[in-house]
Amino acid sequence: MSEAKKFSILIVDDTPKNIQVVASILKELGYQVAFARDGQTALSTAKSAKFDLILLDIMMPEMDGYEVCQHLKTDSRTADIPIIFLTAKTESDNIVKGFEVGGVDYVTKPFNSAELVARVKTHLELRQAREALKKSEQQLRELNAAKDKFFSIIAHDLKNPFAALLGCADLLVQSEPLTEDQKDLAETINMASQQAYDLLQNLLKWSRSQLGHLSCEPESFDICAAVNKTMLLLKNNADNKNIRLISEIEENTLVFADPDMTITIVRNLISNAVKYTSSGGSITVSAKDQGNAWEISVSDTGVGITPEDIKKLFRIDVKHSTHGTAKEEGTGLGLNLCKEFAEKSGGKIGVQSEVGKGSRFYFTLPKPAI
Ligand SMILES: Nc1ncnc2c1ncn2[C@@H]1O[C@H](COP(=O)(O)OP(=O)(O)OP(=O)(O)O)[C@@H](O)[C@H]1O
Ligand SMILES: [Mg+2]
Repeated sequence: MSEAKKFSILIVDDTPKNIQVVASILKELGYQVAFARDGQTALSTAKSAKFDLILLDIMMPEMDGYEVCQHLKTDSRTADIPIIFLTAKTESDNIVKGFEVGGVDYVTKPFNSAELVARVKTHLELRQAREALKKSEQQLRELNAAKDKFFSIIAHDLKNPFAALLGCADLLVQSEPLTEDQKDLAETINMASQQAYDLLQNLLKWSRSQLGHLSCEPESFDICAAVNKTMLLLKNNADNKNIRLISEIEENTLVFADPDMTITIVRNLISNAVKYTSSGGSITVSAKDQGNAWEISVSDTGVGITPEDIKKLFRIDVKHSTHGTAKEEGTGLGLNLCKEFAEKSGGKIGVQSEVGKGSRFYFTLPKPAI
């Protein structure tokens, strides 16, 4: 029984005969055993070495077992050691009190050695499992913190170069004279950097939201202005593919939602629409009054989605991502994020689509209370 060797057990009893009996049973099984004959000695012994279990007599002169247990439970060095009471008292009041002061179990005297051994084994195993759990929880916490740090470094250090890249590519597209080839290259740089930047933003939002760091802070704002702003950012992409962006939302259409999350939804839906629509198509954003909420739609004249593929959308357990009409790549993260944010804002998200005709993605946002 080599497993037993790594466990040490403290036996506390004022009757030497009892200690002898218990110690011999446990030693025979290979456990390391120490003993104390009164409460004070028990406390100092328990603090001086590392014990895995304490067998504690209740009736002892000066300091009884309950008091010893209470002291052990309030000291961080000994609080985690499981304590089994050894007791001649079998009334349930006494037993309940033992549990109340922090004992995990009790064995009645005179001992039945098989019962004693079974209880000792069980509690040692439980303690081992608990410690393993604690250790892996700690490891998990550290890993999470490392991941957090990793993302915040990415967020901080990649945002600026991206902004510069986007700005320069923009200037390059507009600068004259450029040959057609040069213009194409500049547009490709522009589109690729915009896509990479969008992906970066989605990834960061997703990870923060998963870690519970993203709180939903709803406020009243004009969805028309938010949509216009987002359209402006995506205009270059749409122009490159010769796609018209139209907003039919009236000014001062007030919603009550987290602006940042809402913009992420709108940005993802419009950029998907641009991605899955061919040259010459159009994308229309509109708002429908639903009483307590606005239903915002992003409709495109694009490739559409089959009913089987629709079932795979908005799901983190199924990865579904196809290339855009200009071979744009994706991660399949965008719609998951949209669903999560729409639901966090107290709304719903959905899609209607017909292959070859186009798609309409819609989500609801509550109206502000009047
Ligand atoms: N407007 C649309 N028209 C046609 N198919 C679409 C449209 N929007 C989404 N899809 C389909 O749904 C899939 C998932 O969209 P989602 O935005 O989640 O991922 P993605 O665009 O592939 O990647 P990314 O994470 O970069 O957004 C797409 O790959 C595409 O197949
Ligand atoms: Mg997408």
